[in-house]
Amino acid sequence: MIELINITKDFSDGSAIINILKPTTIELKPHEFTAIVGPSGSGKSTLLTIIGALQKPTTGTLKINGQDVYSLSEDKQADLRFMSIGFVLQQSNLVPYLTVREQFEFKLQQSQMKNNRDQIDRILTLLEIKKLEKKYPDDISGGERQRVAIGLALLLDPQIILADEPTASLDTEKAINVVKTLKKISDEFESIVIMVTHDQRMLQYVDRTLEMKDGVLTDQTQQWSVKSH
Ligand SMILES: Nc1ncnc2c1ncn2[C@@H]1O[C@H](COP(=O)(O)OP(=O)(O)OP(=O)(O)O)[C@@H](O)[C@H]1O
Ligand SMILES: [Mg+2]
Repeated sequence: MIELINITKDFSDGSAIINILKPTTIELKPHEFTAIVGPSGSGKSTLLTIIGALQKPTTGTLKINGQDVYSLSEDKQADLRFMSIGFVLQQSNLVPYLTVREQFEFKLQQSQMKNNRDQIDRILTLLEIKKLEKKYPDDISGGERQRVAIGLALLLDPQIILADEPTASLDTEKAINVVKTLKKISDEFESIVIMVTHDQRMLQYVDRTLEMKDGVLTDQTQQWSVKSH
């Protein structure tokens, strides 16, 4: 579980301090596929990187599995980021001169885990990209590259998958495939999957929708359930 307790984020724009995130308290649970929506510049990416401990909040506490992240040593924080959190960026930043399979082998080597071929095969099969394993990123489609990026994010069995607009450069059909894949991951693994998206059509596939507006996060799902009672 991830807990944000009274998290805020300020940025300085030279002269003034801008309060991007107002005090935010929220829990995110395993098996929950969550979308973060909201206008451009509202702080969605900032929130996502704070959730993933890639960026430190100005005030407040971030707990992952009950552990206060910023009370850990720098080394332990780095281990947590590498081993527990998978990040899928908008541009799937694959290494151009490695084949699809080599991207996975390279990441396993970096993790100093022994070459776990079974895990690679399991992920390639799950994401339906096994047939692409000998191809280079330039020779596959945008949607396929995005699935490879998701696979890489999954490789070390992280408990948390964070995706920042993973469907932004895809047409509708490919976008739906990527989102359904994220849904499948949250259903089949004990993972927390959080996706920033601008695309309203993708919200039908998520369990929970959070909206960022003027630095305030509201749970749309709760609002709806309140309305329906
Ligand atoms: N390192 C930084 N220093 C100063 N200001 C920043 C920094 N990072 C983000 N900001 C500002 O914080 C605000 C929120 O940025 P953020 O990237 O979180 O928005 P976003 O909701 O993800 O927008 P988009 O939908 O366009 O990606 C913006 O006004 C941005 O300019
Ligand atoms: Mg953003």
